[in-house]
Amino acid sequence: MSTRGASPGRRTRVMAADAAGITEAARLLTEGGLVALPTETVYGLACDATNPRAVANLYTAKGRPSFNPLIAHVPDIASARKVGRLTPAAETLASRFWPGPLTLVVPAVEAATSALARAGLPSVAIRVPTHPVAQAVLRAAGRAIAAPSANRSGHVSPTRASHVQADLDGRIDLILDAGPSAVGVESTIVDCTGDVPVMLRPGGLPREAIEAALGAPLGDLTPSPAADAPVAPGMLASHYAPSVPVRLRASEVRPGEALLSFAGAHPPGAETALAVRDLSPAGDLDEAAANLFDYLRALDASGASAIAVVPLPRRGLGEAIADRLRRAAAPR
Ligand code: TXA
Ligand code: MG
Repeated sequence: MSTRGASPGRRTRVMAADAAGITEAARLLTEGGLVALPTETVYGLACDATNPRAVANLYTAKGRPSFNPLIAHVPDIASARKVGRLTPAAETLASRFWPGPLTLVVPAVEAATSALARAGLPSVAIRVPTHPVAQAVLRAAGRAIAAPSANRSGHVSPTRASHVQADLDGRIDLILDAGPSAVGVESTIVDCTGDVPVMLRPGGLPREAIEAALGAPLGDLTPSPAADAPVAPGMLASHYAPSVPVRLRASEVRPGEALLSFAGAHPPGAETALAVRDLSPAGDLDEAAANLFDYLRALDASGASAIAVVPLPRRGLGEAIADRLRRAAAPR
């Protein structure tokens, strides 16, 4: 499925994320352009969420199914209140965790984003990133910015400017390079439209922190009745996919495989692995999340026939890591 790389003849500009880069990014966004921006979770492919032409171009550049709604990024709670109606649970979580790696789904203020960005839904997903470059661009642009992860649809999310280039060179207007993403997995998404807040996607903010702030457990994500109209359409089973198969909870490394390890684990056969990465030799799950997508890309490019992954703990960011690995391993 991989058609990575540049369209012939036209390269995407890469700029440092300094004052000039930020000004140029904001200018391009207000003119309907597509700009890859650093955030603390992963690099996002940004466009003006109020401009349906820009949103349509973004779907095309990503090769993303157009029924998938996008997250509206804003710089602060006051701006968020213009894009959606923050319910009491949303207010609690927003005041505790924004800016931060948390996305809240709330009833939409329909005039504040194009229906195409919301995929026609009456709700809107809102996020306030901490990254100073994302903050500066959002303030300069002065409107809601849609920003899915800056990868081709189905590929793993980018945590470096070079990952964005590998997927989208020649298809977008600008890449702002601010070095590697600190968190490394996407934001946690919590749906606050119902009586009980529900986690739609585990991510950079652990479940434990959210439940402590709410003083109650999050509700369970029940499978939606219509398989073709999921609550969070981004939760397609195979979503974060390297090009080679991924084998989870591996207790040995088979001939031809690469090894994704954790905390120094060295299963039988590891010495024959074509390539090895340890997500965190010290066993730190935050560090593991930050390395996850970069290491999946590196092992995918190693020429191995498959990637064997050792078991990882589920606490903290371990839930998001397990979710992304499960998707990477899903049949496709
Ligand atoms: O960390 C992140 O969230 C990154 C950075 C760039 O901010 N963005 C990101 O966006 O991961 P994306 O488009 O790859 O994921 C958006 C997710 C999808 O699963 C989508 O289905 C869900 O948000 N979503 C968006 N609007 C929704 C809505 N109204 N109701 C339910 N789910 C929604
Ligand atoms: Mg994505």
